[in-house]
Amino acid sequence: MIHNNISILNNGHLAFSNVDTVEMANKYGTPLYLVDENKIKENCREYKAALEKYFGKESLPLYASKALCYRNIYRILNEEGLCIDVVSGGELYTALSVGFPAERIYFHGNNKTLNEICYGLDNRIGGFIVDNFDELVRINAEAGKRNINQNILLRLSPGIDPHTHRAVVTGNVDSKFGVAIETGQALEFVKAAIECENLTLEGIHCHIGSQIFDKYPFTDAAKNMLDFALEIKNKLGFDVKKINLGGGIGVKYTNNDPDVTIDEIFCEIKKELDSMVSERGLESLVFLFEMGRYISANAGMTLYTVGSVKEITGYKKYVCIDGGMCDNPRYALYQSKYTVYNASNANSERTMVASVAGRCCESGDLIGEDMQLQEFKREDIMAVAVTGAYNYAMSSNYNRLPKPAMVAVENGADKLVVKRETYEDIVKNEL
Ligand code: LLP
Repeated sequence: MIHNNISILNNGHLAFSNVDTVEMANKYGTPLYLVDENKIKENCREYKAALEKYFGKESLPLYASKALCYRNIYRILNEEGLCIDVVSGGELYTALSVGFPAERIYFHGNNKTLNEICYGLDNRIGGFIVDNFDELVRINAEAGKRNINQNILLRLSPGIDPHTHRAVVTGNVDSKFGVAIETGQALEFVKAAIECENLTLEGIHCHIGSQIFDKYPFTDAAKNMLDFALEIKNKLGFDVKKINLGGGIGVKYTNNDPDVTIDEIFCEIKKELDSMVSERGLESLVFLFEMGRYISANAGMTLYTVGSVKEITGYKKYVCIDGGMCDNPRYALYQSKYTVYNASNANSERTMVASVAGRCCESGDLIGEDMQLQEFKREDIMAVAVTGAYNYAMSSNYNRLPKPAMVAVENGADKLVVKRETYEDIVKNEL
């Protein structure tokens, strides 16, 4: 099994976090998101422990909300003592709505609207990660109007190509995110931030990309950021207090992916930094990270009902399901690979080669192409594993499909955490 929260029951059904997935499909209907809240907690603890081990008690583990955002996850993250990053007023609202402490929230995004800036300031959030000069001016002015001082970090691009899918690279020099170190503009950005009288510059931030298994992009980015911190110290006499190195550690989706742990990656970054930090007199730095996928991906599974199995003689076979790109657009967008199980008959052999097709009117609406699958027939429950990150978060109503429900499983019990959308929900804002 691809992760240890997936198993097979005596009745041949697939279990997720010890819960019978076929029973879940019957009880709540399909498509259905399952979220293993025990796993979320386990991942948070692993993250926190590794961070503390290598970067000390002062370091801050942030969760990148964009991977999976629903109200109950913020209750869990709060209990587990994590900080969060949000990238929109919507994510901020969701976190605040369940009492997530504002001082542990960092506001990201490359084009925060004026409303969002005001919303963050009015709620006294812990920090803004400022993306550009225009935004800096704006946040400073709005903080001034409110007579408050706001902590900020600056988003920089360290010029790293992490060799992941092009769409999820963010730290390259010509990226739309942040200000480039290489061009000299980042130093100007720091200078401008120091001069803002209503802002306190705490440090610098970078995020190089997502689904990265290799240590080098992380260690290279860390080196570049540290070198830049030293440049700031030497040229501007300013001590950077915090360095946020973003998220991006890869997660195993199929048996072809490596199994990389957060401990291993943090250990490598720490090794790289150790010599540099003392050599450069930057000992008192506080490190922040913001993992998304690593916390939520393997805590998710999606269940579908197979509607038909279609063979185009001499060409191709399709297993057609009652969901697809609306609840999981990742194959359509990035050709992301998944592991698929026949949840109704989980012991069967993988003797069928077929593509898994969604129900949208789009040829690209697939969960995978020509996959080695277990045999499927109409009415079987299909389980797609590792869907906890960037699935519900990226879902849409294309073709007017209502969004699936989400059920949390914890200690063998199930509870609804997101209701299934209705047709009324779909038209509710239309006049
Ligand atoms: N911090 C920043 C500034 C980010 O932009 C991201 C992700 C993260 C942290 C968290 O990265 P993670 O640890 O989850 O890799 N939709 C794509 C992924 C886009 C990632 C966007 N930024 C996907 O489905 O693969």
